[in-house]
Amino acid sequence: MVAKHTLIVGNWKMNLNMHEASLYLHQLSELVKVHRDVDVVLAPTIFTLQSLSLQINRRQFKLAAQNLYWRDHGAFTGEVSATQLRGIVDYAIIGHSERRHVFGETDKDVRNKVQASIRNNIRPILCVGETTAERTYGETNDVLHDQLIGGLANVTSDELKEVIIAYEPVWAIGTGNNALPSDVTTAIKAIRGQIKHLYGKQAAEDITVLYGGSVTASSAADYLALEEVDGLLIGGASLDAHAFTDIIKKAHKGAAVATNA
Ligand code: PGA
Repeated sequence: MVAKHTLIVGNWKMNLNMHEASLYLHQLSELVKVHRDVDVVLAPTIFTLQSLSLQINRRQFKLAAQNLYWRDHGAFTGEVSATQLRGIVDYAIIGHSERRHVFGETDKDVRNKVQASIRNNIRPILCVGETTAERTYGETNDVLHDQLIGGLANVTSDELKEVIIAYEPVWAIGTGNNALPSDVTTAIKAIRGQIKHLYGKQAAEDITVLYGGSVTASSAADYLALEEVDGLLIGGASLDAHAFTDIIKKAHKGAAVATNA
């Protein structure tokens, strides 16, 4: 089997204007080395994507949309479609907890967006994860099950090869509350179990699963060392060029160790 690349995604959320984003990309490109075993993806706000796509070295970084609309075109004021993003981004974050909880996105919206991404050659990064209350009531596995079934309905085995899953417990996002590595392992095992149930053993092993939630340069290595984790989705720390570069270096070291094992 070909070793999987480690995937590091920086979600800039609603930060950096055009000028700041361009300067930041310039700074990052000076710091980050190209490692063949690590794929680095940047997710800036939608309106900076096009100009960054002209500036970016695509061997060094790929771009992701933080969201997209599932219809290809039409009367949908304020939305941007996967068709419009095609060729500019390689990935799209779909169903991020802020989309689900702040903007009321349902599993059906998420499913339509996953479909739209695949249809437009954009790899969806499907985010799943439980809230504090769901965790307290012991509902984590049920939530993961429902979000996976909801998001992946209509995705064929062939299409699944393009899909990435991100386990992002809502209580750990932007809160500084670190999920214990053992919690992450348990949740991602449940995710792979569900994928196995839907698509078989090989698909469950092959699918790339990321962890996200308050990851910093100092906690990154602990998560990357977990067998179940294929990469990280990073919010806050991705806005600090030095912290983000450190995380990428750790991913490279981790991947090198895994390949030599
Ligand atoms: P955080 O965000 O690293 O700031 O917790 C993660 C995310 O929202 O994907």
